Amino acid sequence: MMETEAKNGGTLREVDGAEIISIVDNTVDFLSATTHKQVKPFGRWARERHGQEWMHTHKQFPLAEHGFSMLIRTLSDNKPESILFDAGGSPETAVENARRVGLDLKEVECIVLSHGHYDHFGGLISVVKEIGRSGIPIIVHDDMFKSRGSAYPDGAVRKYTDFPTEAQLSPARLVSTKKPFLVAHNKVCVTGEIPRETSFEKGFMRHRALTNGEWQPDPAVLDDRGVVLNVKGKGLVVLSGCAHAGIINTVNYAKQITGIPEVYAVIGGFHLAGKENEKRIEQTINELKRINPKLVVPCHCTGWKAMCALSQEMPDAFVWNSVGNLYEV
Ligand SMILES: [Fe+2]
Ligand SMILES: [Fe+2]
Repeated sequence: MMETEAKNGGTLREVDGAEIISIVDNTVDFLSATTHKQVKPFGRWARERHGQEWMHTHKQFPLAEHGFSMLIRTLSDNKPESILFDAGGSPETAVENARRVGLDLKEVECIVLSHGHYDHFGGLISVVKEIGRSGIPIIVHDDMFKSRGSAYPDGAVRKYTDFPTEAQLSPARLVSTKKPFLVAHNKVCVTGEIPRETSFEKGFMRHRALTNGEWQPDPAVLDDRGVVLNVKGKGLVVLSGCAHAGIINTVNYAKQITGIPEVYAVIGGFHLAGKENEKRIEQTINELKRINPKLVVPCHCTGWKAMCALSQEMPDAFVWNSVGNLYEV
């Protein structure tokens, strides 16, 4: 039986800091130098934390695929708390990559899904099995359970993989929310449905949802939510899965629901790839410059054109993500 948001309340608490580890993403780059003090590539942090001997015996580096998953570990109250934001695309990559970087997914206390697309929930069943605890909450949205697809120019629809059933996700506990929802003892906020307010973020025009047996246009992808943390002395850290709501709408809504104007980091898929979305690269960057985060980590579905433009236009903030990267914020 799915639960609803009715029981949730309170305000987002400040955290002393957080660690964010890229578990699944579209690219790996273990070699490029980084000058950002908040970013540690896998080889560096794993050697520091697991030791030289561990590096010698665990020779497999994590894998890239079209998908997204980040581990978010809050550092506060002398007790780290971990949530997993999305679960990658293929059934095994999130679990396999966690093993390859030396993380035990049993530390995860809550799973949050950004939206109901296969590249974000594909590894969910194996993640739930790996965590192995009964009743672990998975924060979802009702629309994730609709069949989805995208239309080709001739109108035919490519159907996506359906979201797993409650039975397949047992013994986890599904919690469905449309409104802002606090997890990790109020240290992380799931935004809930994001108002579409900018003039240029028009949604996913080719997106379709199966309604009453027919494929209907569903450009809004209303289940697309982000997560937000408030880090002491720094400001908001906003993570998006695919940002079908628009990355600027996502950040603006995070500011609105928390009442905190400072944005320290924006991390995740910005969905600026493809003919239709590439038209909004310039406006997105203009708005991001106004928001002025110290760290901008566009990844997953952002696309190389937007990544190149962001690296040129926001060189001090921009980071190219690699699977395995650790962000200390
Ligand atoms: Fe995606
Ligand atoms: Fe998506």
